[in-house]
Amino acid sequence: MPPTVIAERDGAVAVLRLARADKKNALTSDMYAAITSAWSAAEADDAVAVHLWLGLPGAFCAGNDIEDFLECARTGRLGSEILDFLHRLATLEKPLVIGVDGLAIGVGTTALLHADLVVASDASLFRTPFTDLGLVPEAASSLLGPRRLGHAVAFELLALGAPFDAERARAVGLINRVVPAADLERTARDTARALAAKPRAALAAARRLLRDVPGAGRAEILARIEEEAAEFARRLASPEAAAAFTAFVSRKK
Ligand code: COA
Repeated sequence: MPPTVIAERDGAVAVLRLARADKKNALTSDMYAAITSAWSAAEADDAVAVHLWLGLPGAFCAGNDIEDFLECARTGRLGSEILDFLHRLATLEKPLVIGVDGLAIGVGTTALLHADLVVASDASLFRTPFTDLGLVPEAASSLLGPRRLGHAVAFELLALGAPFDAERARAVGLINRVVPAADLERTARDTARALAAKPRAALAAARRLLRDVPGAGRAEILARIEEEAAEFARRLASPEAAAAFTAFVSRKK
């Protein structure tokens, strides 16, 4: 089977690509573990200045694999791979650039709140259907969402589950830039390379200052991830979630 997570280097940029085309880049436990380990290796590598996260044309990430969620529901706990991934995402020391083309669902959207720069194609669609699945927002989005987007927009995205196109995502401050799909990867790579070319210590210090915002600093973010995960695990075991997952899994059978 071809790898579903590909880590490569582009100069001082550590590029991570999701490549599970047949499932629109839905994330399995193994994929979370592979991402966490690739990011940890890149963090430890002095030759790496910046992380770049890409998906596939038309599918950045369709969120957590729902069949895996069914398994979590049976065991009544959230896999450690998911929590390790969220911790790694929230504690990266090097800047994270994300390039989105197409679907960005669930954690495919909430992860963007941890990025430093996001470029998206005009064919992108952002949606977090947590409540429809009987779940709650995760990845500290219940903290960073209202902070970044304001309560009204965050509630619309994270509780109503309203889909946002790229223009709306840019207008509300979820992403930086919208480009034609054909230019997405080049623009995302150029953006990451431009950051990687900055004086390293100054960039690191600037990032630290910009991210250590009172009320949404690292400690608060990690605490919120834990708090959300506890509620998420309770919701996973609920009849509401079981019904939603079963409906998704059986819809084509
Ligand atoms: N988990 C598991 N499988 C998923 C998936 C997910 N999150 N997202 C997509 N897939 C699978 C589909 O089941 C389908 O598999 P199959 O070909 O074996 O039946 C394949 O990926 C292609 O998806 P499909 O639904 O045919 O494509 P689409 O373009 O019509 O719709 C989505 C794409 C992403 C909108 C739709 O698949 C979807 O709503 N997925 C669930 C997204 C979600 O709720 N994620 C969790 C958020 S917390």
